[in-house]
Amino acid sequence: MAILVTGGTGYIGSHTSIELLKRGERIVVLDNLSNSKIEMCDSIKKLSGKDFKFYQVDLLDKPEVERVFKENKIEEVIHFAGLKAVGESCEKPIEYYHNNITGTLNLVDVMRKNGCKKIVFSSSATVYGDPKTVPIKEDFPLSTTNPYGSTKLMIERILTDVYKSDNEWSVILLRYFNPIGAHESGEIGENPNGIPNNLMPYINYVAAGKLDHLNVFGNDYDTHDGTGVRDYIHVVDLALGHLKAIDKARKITGVEAYNLGTGTGYSVLDIVKAFEKANDIKIKYEITNRRPGDIAVCFADPTKAKEELGWEATRDLEQMCKDSWKYTKNNIK
Ligand code: WQD
Repeated sequence: MAILVTGGTGYIGSHTSIELLKRGERIVVLDNLSNSKIEMCDSIKKLSGKDFKFYQVDLLDKPEVERVFKENKIEEVIHFAGLKAVGESCEKPIEYYHNNITGTLNLVDVMRKNGCKKIVFSSSATVYGDPKTVPIKEDFPLSTTNPYGSTKLMIERILTDVYKSDNEWSVILLRYFNPIGAHESGEIGENPNGIPNNLMPYINYVAAGKLDHLNVFGNDYDTHDGTGVRDYIHVVDLALGHLKAIDKARKITGVEAYNLGTGTGYSVLDIVKAFEKANDIKIKYEITNRRPGDIAVCFADPTKAKEELGWEATRDLEQMCKDSWKYTKNNIK
């Protein structure tokens, strides 16, 4: 019996695979390696001390997905696999809808045919759109402002309808806020292809001298210092949330959504200052125009996850900044 981890060599998927293996779970990892490298499998094995089967499979290749289920007794699925860049999704909506939605429909149909009815889905805080108030609770209105977020919301609705058609299903929707940081070893971390879109990898590239300065996208928001506020969560805390979600899926049937955030919002300049202090590095920055599609403030109310999953984030911002830089220093030339 095993847990299938789709997208298991990606940033969050790899950190989650390590924690699953360390806890003694048997896993099978599926990834098309479109945004990760095969060497990540060795890192996962080294950091967990355990072995697992890997399939280089694309969810769009349904016969191959069927082969994975034929060759392994899959009991639960943690579904990370998907394209995930907000800006890119606005340029390539068809690719995003096809890859993320069709891929998920293939996965869920093969699950159904093999009697596998427990899924933990990697959703996102972007399903809340631009919230009227913060902190954000799971029952807030859902809306999206870009194709990436729309695929996440559509998949939440698909999985909800699958449960309505068959009440034997367990569906746990995990809405991530802003994952940053890296495994304490510094062996694995966030290594985006090309120029980073997200704040923390960009700051790391400036610290490493790969980029000259950070562009702060606007300082005229209605926040304490005018720059955007987000809920940054350590990727290992996020990974551990998935273990609690699997435990929940094993106990209940139905559909439940959980915010995985710290409940604390930090601005862009707060992050810059924290990174500088934690790593004793100066980060040059310039204030530029707002980035289209950005919202002013977004942070979680994580009470439901604490009460129902027995999970809460424990790593602070200093740890996130230190672990992030340790990985970059060791790996990004
Ligand atoms: C954070 C803040 C920017 C880069 C995205 C996705 C979301 C989720 C998390 C997957 C904002 C500012 C950023 C830069 C900047 N991913 N910024 N200069 O946009 O909150 O969320 O990642 O689920 O779906 O939308 O993250 O890191 O891009 O931005 O000033 O070079 O940093 O304006 O205020 P975001 P981000």
